Amino acid sequence: MRLSLRFVVPLFLALGIFAYAALPLVDKLMLRWFSRDLEVRANLIATTVDDPLHNLIRTGDRGRIQEFFTRLTQDERLFAVAFCPADAGEPVATPTMPAEVRCSDLGRFTQPSGDLLQTASGPVFLSVRPLVGGGRLVLVHDMSFIARRSRETRNYLFLFFVGLGLTVALITVVIAQLSWRGWVQGLRALLRGEGLLVVPGRAGGRGFAGPPAELRPVVKDLRALIADLEADHRSRDEEQLAWAPATLRNILHRELRGQEVMVVSNREPYIHMKRGAEIDVWRPASGLVSALEPIMRACSGTWIAHGSGTGDRETVDHHDRVALPPPPDGPAYRLRRVWLSAEEEAGYYYGFANEGLWPLCHIAHVRPVFRTRDWHEYVSVNRKFAKTVVDEAKSPDPIVLVQDYHFALLPRMINQTLPAATIISFWHIPWPNPEAFAICPWREELLDGLLGSTILGFHTQFHVNNFVDTVDRLVEARVDREIFAVTYRGKPTTVRRYPISVEWPPQAELLGQPVEQCRTVIRRRHDLPPEQAVGVGVERMDYTKGIEERLRAVERLFELEPQWIGKFTFIQIAAPTRIHIEEYRNYEARIRDLAMRINQRFPEAAQPPIILKIEHHQPDEIFEYYRGADLCMVTSLHDGMNLVAKEFVSARDDERGVLILSLFTGAARELPEALIVNPYDIDQCAAALRLALTMSGGEQRTRMRLMRGLIQDFNVFRWAGRMLMDAATLRRRERLPDAFTPRGIERQKRVAGFDQA
Ligand code: G6P
Repeated sequence: MRLSLRFVVPLFLALGIFAYAALPLVDKLMLRWFSRDLEVRANLIATTVDDPLHNLIRTGDRGRIQEFFTRLTQDERLFAVAFCPADAGEPVATPTMPAEVRCSDLGRFTQPSGDLLQTASGPVFLSVRPLVGGGRLVLVHDMSFIARRSRETRNYLFLFFVGLGLTVALITVVIAQLSWRGWVQGLRALLRGEGLLVVPGRAGGRGFAGPPAELRPVVKDLRALIADLEADHRSRDEEQLAWAPATLRNILHRELRGQEVMVVSNREPYIHMKRGAEIDVWRPASGLVSALEPIMRACSGTWIAHGSGTGDRETVDHHDRVALPPPPDGPAYRLRRVWLSAEEEAGYYYGFANEGLWPLCHIAHVRPVFRTRDWHEYVSVNRKFAKTVVDEAKSPDPIVLVQDYHFALLPRMINQTLPAATIISFWHIPWPNPEAFAICPWREELLDGLLGSTILGFHTQFHVNNFVDTVDRLVEARVDREIFAVTYRGKPTTVRRYPISVEWPPQAELLGQPVEQCRTVIRRRHDLPPEQAVGVGVERMDYTKGIEERLRAVERLFELEPQWIGKFTFIQIAAPTRIHIEEYRNYEARIRDLAMRINQRFPEAAQPPIILKIEHHQPDEIFEYYRGADLCMVTSLHDGMNLVAKEFVSARDDERGVLILSLFTGAARELPEALIVNPYDIDQCAAALRLALTMSGGEQRTRMRLMRGLIQDFNVFRWAGRMLMDAATLRRRERLPDAFTPRGIERQKRVAGFDQA
């Protein structure tokens, strides 16, 4: 509307000025036309009256001459006529002759065509014509009609310009209204027949008939074209979008035509756990799950995951489905649980995924173990999930988001049964270099499986490069490093970097408790004095997380700066994880021993240096620690992204708190304002702790603000949105006619015989 006004107001001004300048010109032009007209008339009259007038003059009867002239002036436009003899004789004139015109004074009228005069009786046009028989004929034409005509013309012109202005303004407003956002809907509405064909008799006259049958195919194509144009335009607007759940819904609705979304992950978003007769709902400690859950709330659809909770079977319907999230927030989507036998879980989850692929991809100095029986379970569980996807799909071309290293084979399996599905796979953990990956005895099968995806995502460009190098090295594929696409077995896969993030803003209830209160609550809970400096670490008890290194850094700080002993406490929250794997049990035991040793080493400390909390925590409890702590340590030895770092930042709406972050996390590339450390360098980590503990409030605020700004701009909705937008582009590209592809052009070359010349 503003745009329209900006155009319409100057338009009317310009038209007004133009009309103002044009009207006198029009007057002049009309006068010239009429003068020319009168000149011709004067010549005609003079020629016609020459003979009869001289006959009358010869009779010498002035009365008859006057009567003759009076008859001539009966023409409404001829006002007066006079005859001026050549000699000094008496002129004869009609009584209407203006006093200003005298025979003795005709010399002052110089124009051969005639002169315009203002007389007492109004404007007149004077023509003086010499007669062949001698003397001059004076004709006085009434010009008052000119003023009348001019007035009429002005009125018409005025109406014309107003009409013109209104028409142009109307067109402008309509174009402005229809252009970008509006025109698509406008055209769509027209295509639907709205505004064109009102079906009489419908309530309020608002019913619409569709376009005529013969136009329908054209309309269909046009609609598709409009949708594509619209989507292309929006895709270029990624920067401009405010990334929220509604943005995702819009992308799905507009760019993917409301296509159904399915997520497949091993870990489920809510676990039902039996506690006596009760069933508790747990939120698992998994970055993947915390990132995807808000996406599913926004997009609805179906989430397929392993039902691993002790109360899971009791809470599903007879199709093994449960509506989530639980009240009061939901339901917004449904979870389809897949049951695994103990053997399947042992081989696929504990064995191949977590003893094989997990250490293979994380360079954390734990040897990967690959067993053939684990591989067989891995294949069969992937097949089981692929079948579930097909069973749950309501359409032949759903968008399937396949998550993580548990399902490397799934993309190919889904592609074989649902070739029109768009498969977006995301590898949440690092991808090692080709030499490291080649250790896996089933490396080719894994690559083949993953290359069944339409899009394959990693958190960092480094991992994208590693993957593309691996493909290049280990299988026969065409690798395009320009656009990071791999074509394998005739199928292209786009390999891209999509750094994952957290929900922004965090859910209101997580920020409900004021920071001051969180500080008090956590200190009181652990019998710490109110002024105690507190650091926090939050993760699963996993050897990739660098928990040992972090505790050693606390110890080192106390060695180097004993004034901190008793003044600083580090609280380590660690959710038990993968406890059937020996390496994990050993790790937990090592951490317990280490914490105990450090605490015993400083007996003089009134407060313990380390507090270990090896148990499951719900998100609100974790946020309480994030908000109540002075610093957070993330010292992973290798991590795809690490969402704890981003969650800590999102929790600190007070713009305080210091993040110490391992340079081996994907997050370190996005949050350089954290104190970036090499977790293997214990002295450096101790120095970072010291810096964090002494950092001024202003410095904390500056850093926190920058980090919060990044997470606000690149939240988890944008992560999912970018993948969905890329998927939409690829889907549109696939719909383009084959004839125009290089293959099609090649065919054309042969058909047209261009290769014969
Ligand atoms: C990592 C993996 C996820 C996994 C999470 C928790 O973040 O990338 O796929 O869900 O760890 O591990 P768990 O084995 O308990 O699901």
